[in-house]
Amino acid sequence: MIDRIVNTGVDEQDIQEVELEDSIRPRDFKSYIGQERLKQNLELAIQAATKREEPLDHVLLYGPPGLGKTTMASVIAYEMGAQIRITSGPAIERAGDLASLLTNLQDGDILFIDEIHRLNRTVEEVLYSAMEDFKLDIMLGKGPSARSMRLDLPKFTIIGATTRAGSLASPLRDRFGHIHRLEFYQPEEVQRIIERTANILGVKIDDAASGQLATRARLTPRIANRLLKRVRDYADVNGDGIIDTVISTQALQLLEIDELGLDPIDRLLLLAIIESYNGGPVGVETLAALTAEERSTIEDFIEPYLMQIGLLERTPRGRKVTHKAYKHLGKSMPNDSNSLL
Ligand SMILES: Nc1ncnc2c1ncn2[C@@H]1O[C@H](COP(=O)(O)OP(=O)(O)OP(=O)(O)O)[C@@H](O)[C@H]1O
Ligand SMILES: [Mg+2]
Repeated sequence: MIDRIVNTGVDEQDIQEVELEDSIRPRDFKSYIGQERLKQNLELAIQAATKREEPLDHVLLYGPPGLGKTTMASVIAYEMGAQIRITSGPAIERAGDLASLLTNLQDGDILFIDEIHRLNRTVEEVLYSAMEDFKLDIMLGKGPSARSMRLDLPKFTIIGATTRAGSLASPLRDRFGHIHRLEFYQPEEVQRIIERTANILGVKIDDAASGQLATRARLTPRIANRLLKRVRDYADVNGDGIIDTVISTQALQLLEIDELGLDPIDRLLLLAIIESYNGGPVGVETLAALTAEERSTIEDFIEPYLMQIGLLERTPRGRKVTHKAYKHLGKSMPNDSNSLL
C-alpha cells in the first residue's frame, strides 16, 4: 500500500513513535472519548463480573481500522485490574502455539487476539473448547495409537478484534458473550481527541483549527492523531509552532486532504467509477485494478468511510457512487431516471 496520510493502518513512522503512542493512548474509560454505548455496556459487564469475582465473558470488538479496538482491549484490562497478553490471528500458526499461550495464562488474565478472523481452522477448533469449558483438548501421538487428553485451563477472557466480523466462523462468533461494533466518531468527539492529544504532546492549537482537523480526520482517532502530528510539523517549520486555521489549511492543502477528509486515492477511486463506469455499479476487483490497490485495502481502509459519509453505496451488483459524490467532485450527473435534475 502506498503511503497515505489518511491510511488507517499503523505505519513505520508510527512504530518509531511507539513511546509517544503509549502516552496518548487512553488508559481507562474516563480518558477513552466517545463510543458511549460500548463503554456503558462494558462498564456494566465489568462491574457484574467483579462483583461475582468471575472473569469477564469473552469480548469481540469489530469495526473499521483505527477506531480504538486495541485501545479498548487494554482499557478493559486496566478496568478489570487484569493482566493482558497480546497476540494476533496470523501469529498463532499451530494448535501448539495456542496451547502454550493458554497454559501460560493465570486466572483472570486477558488474552487479546487481534485480527482474529485470520486464525487458521485447526487453531480455531482448539479455541472453541478452550473458550467454552476452559479445557484444552490435545492429541498425543499419531495414527491408531493416538489418544486425546484434556487439560484444565485457568479462567481467562479472550478479547478478539477484527475489521471483518463477517469472515469469522459462526461457531467462533457464538462463543463470545459480548459482541460490539465500534462506530465512527462524531466530529465533536474527534475534536476532543485532537485537543487531548495536543495537550499531551504540548502542541498549541486553537479551537477553529482543531475543529477543522476534526472534520478532515475520517471520523477516526488514529487519523486525527496522525493529522495533528503532520500539521504540527508544518507549523514548526513554517510558523511559530502554533496551529491556527491559516497554518492548518495550508498544511492540509500540502497533504492533499480535502474538506471531507478525502485524499488523492479516494478521489481517484470515485472518479474512476464516474468516468469509466458511469457511476457504477462496478465490482470491487475492477476497482482494485483501476486504483492499483489491493481488494482488502479498498474494503477495509477506503470504502467504510466513503460509505459512512454517503459518497459510495454497496449494492448486490457492485459499488455505486452517489449524487453527493458527483457534487463533491464537481462532476455533473449522467441523465438517469432517478435524477431529479
Ligand atoms: N476513544 C479514543 N479516545 C482517544 N484516543 C483514541 C480513542 N480510540 C483510539 N484512540 C487513539 O487512536 C489510535 C488508534 O487506536 P487503536 O490502535 O486502538 O485502533 P484499532 O481499532 O485497534 O485499529 P486497528 O484495527 O487498525 O488495529 C491510538 O493511537 C489511540 O491512542
Ligand atoms: Mg488495533
